[in-house]
Amino acid sequence: MIEESVIREVKERLDIVEVIGDFVSLKRSGSSYKALSPFTNEKTPSFFVSPSKQIFKCFSTGKGGDAIEFLKEVEGMTYIDAIKYLGEKYGVEINESTSGYEQNNDKESLLILINKSKDFFIENLKTDEGKNIALTYFNHRNISVDMIKKFELGYSIDKWDSLYKFLIKNQFSDDNIIKAGLILENNNKKYDRFRNRVIFPIHNLSGKTIAFGARILTEDKKQPKYINSPETSLYIKSNILYGLYQSKYEIRKLDNCFLVEGYTDVISLFQIGIENVVASSGTSLTTNQIKLISRYTKNITILFDGDKAGVAASLRGMDLILENDMNVEIVSFPEGDDPDSYSKKVGKDKFQEFIDGNKTDLITFKVNLLQENEDNPVKKSEMIYDIVRSISKIPNSIKRSLFLKEASNSLEINEQALISEMNKLLLGQGNKTVRSNQIIVNNEKESPREDSINSAIDFYERECIRMLVNYGTSDFEVIGLDRKTFIDYFLKEIQDIEFENKNYLKIIEVFKSEYKKDKVIDINYFLSGDFVDIKDDIIDLSSNRYEISKQWKNKFNIHVSEESDSLKKTTYTNILRLKFRLIRKMIKDNLQNLDKSDKHSIDEDVIKLHNKLKSAEVDIAKELGNVTSV
Ligand code: CTP
Ligand code: MN
Repeated sequence: MIEESVIREVKERLDIVEVIGDFVSLKRSGSSYKALSPFTNEKTPSFFVSPSKQIFKCFSTGKGGDAIEFLKEVEGMTYIDAIKYLGEKYGVEINESTSGYEQNNDKESLLILINKSKDFFIENLKTDEGKNIALTYFNHRNISVDMIKKFELGYSIDKWDSLYKFLIKNQFSDDNIIKAGLILENNNKKYDRFRNRVIFPIHNLSGKTIAFGARILTEDKKQPKYINSPETSLYIKSNILYGLYQSKYEIRKLDNCFLVEGYTDVISLFQIGIENVVASSGTSLTTNQIKLISRYTKNITILFDGDKAGVAASLRGMDLILENDMNVEIVSFPEGDDPDSYSKKVGKDKFQEFIDGNKTDLITFKVNLLQENEDNPVKKSEMIYDIVRSISKIPNSIKRSLFLKEASNSLEINEQALISEMNKLLLGQGNKTVRSNQIIVNNEKESPREDSINSAIDFYERECIRMLVNYGTSDFEVIGLDRKTFIDYFLKEIQDIEFENKNYLKIIEVFKSEYKKDKVIDINYFLSGDFVDIKDDIIDLSSNRYEISKQWKNKFNIHVSEESDSLKKTTYTNILRLKFRLIRKMIKDNLQNLDKSDKHSIDEDVIKLHNKLKSAEVDIAKELGNVTSV
């Protein structure tokens, strides 16, 4: 807990222009400042900061708020993190607890020591030895001077103790130098961990060096290719992704993160102008690393070396991505190539083309691998199980059933068999995020993007009102329900829906009030009467079913029902689909409340509401599945 008075002091001292200026390059414009929005990929600035009001506003996304809100949005900080960050920046002492403070002090001096060492390694490049050996190596690897600067590459001299001596001369204690993992000790003799290697500094999210990777310069098989810093209080391997500091804005802008294996893969892609890339540094992805990426995007594209795809399929990292409700796509490079070598061969456009042409979702990727093992039944059944297990990791039940359907099609295995296999997994593992009512299957394709949800809501609102305007006077029977006419049925079904389009609300009101007088109206009622503001809508809605471009349909996964089929079914499904989207939107909005609230005191109500909405979503999806599959 941070004291209220401390928070107040931080807020009083901070200047929003300075805070935001650290992340976005602001230009003065009248009494405020403007910049290209960090939230979108725009060409004209729509992002404004007002020093007098101490707020920012992004007109392309509608986001806005104070400095703390900015740090939360752009840096993915929690409220507490933001206060701590600002406290440091403005010299307000934040003492959550004394021991925490001491620890921070400790970390702070390690950070200084490591960054001094990084500078030392960079300086070494300017010596004759550095030029002859390291720069020649970078040159030979085709790594440009710009990239050497951007990634702060360096060189460790071919001596036992050059760094050690340098650090001692600069008053750093043995104790700290050892803590930083920079020297080793043997028979009371201290010597540098990194010698005669090119140095790849590893940065934290604010660009400070926290560790090093060091590559050998020769093909000497007796020594490890890379030597890395050990873990320290600053460097916890599973929480770090190489390149994220340099790539985070581009990842957010492109809404996609390329994941590669090595330092050199990241650097080569940057060099050809692909900057949304991070490396896992040769290890399997961890949950923390995935969470880190998810601050910037929900979409990960894994780029595999040609010869590693088979092994990679079983990597738990990929299931972890699914588990965290992220989308994953996979690209394998041709045999013998990795992103580094391939990008150097073909350049940016061809590289991007290759990715676009070869990316597959995880399930398809696994299914393809399986087809290579077609003739080995044991292996095959293992892999089917593996595929189902991957699918079972997806928290979103709708996505899950889509993948299951897809797997059933391409594996030519009865979908029901896969479903029951998956349900066993879901229930058996005691999976805490899955409740039994989530185990469902339905046909509703959904894309979770906000614009898509909103457009779909627009669309189905319009469809519902169109049905009302055109078929308001029809009769139909709803079996088992005591509703004889369309209008009766319609008004009851929509009574709990708040239409967003105000004109549609008006139209409904007119139908309702006339119906109360036992009168069922139709288009002519509106056309002859005095309905200036909604007349255009009525005309629009009454004209022949308008053409929806195929592109649009695909973009938003919109269903166009065949009215001729059955009026009842069409009305019913249109209303259901509208409800479905509304619920999805409410889920999203509600979760945004959760994001806004302080993570340390997660609002119980938000969670309760979420569970309620989720089960409503599932109910509707189920119902839709039943109707539409008939
Ligand atoms: N790695 C490591 N220790 C090793 C080998 C590899 O830590 N002995 C890590 C490094 O982070 C490396 C990554 O695994 O970047 C991928 O390994 P590899 O593909 O062999 O290295 P590259 O970065 O591609 O290096 P290069 O292109 O120079 O071979
Ligand atoms: Mn490589």
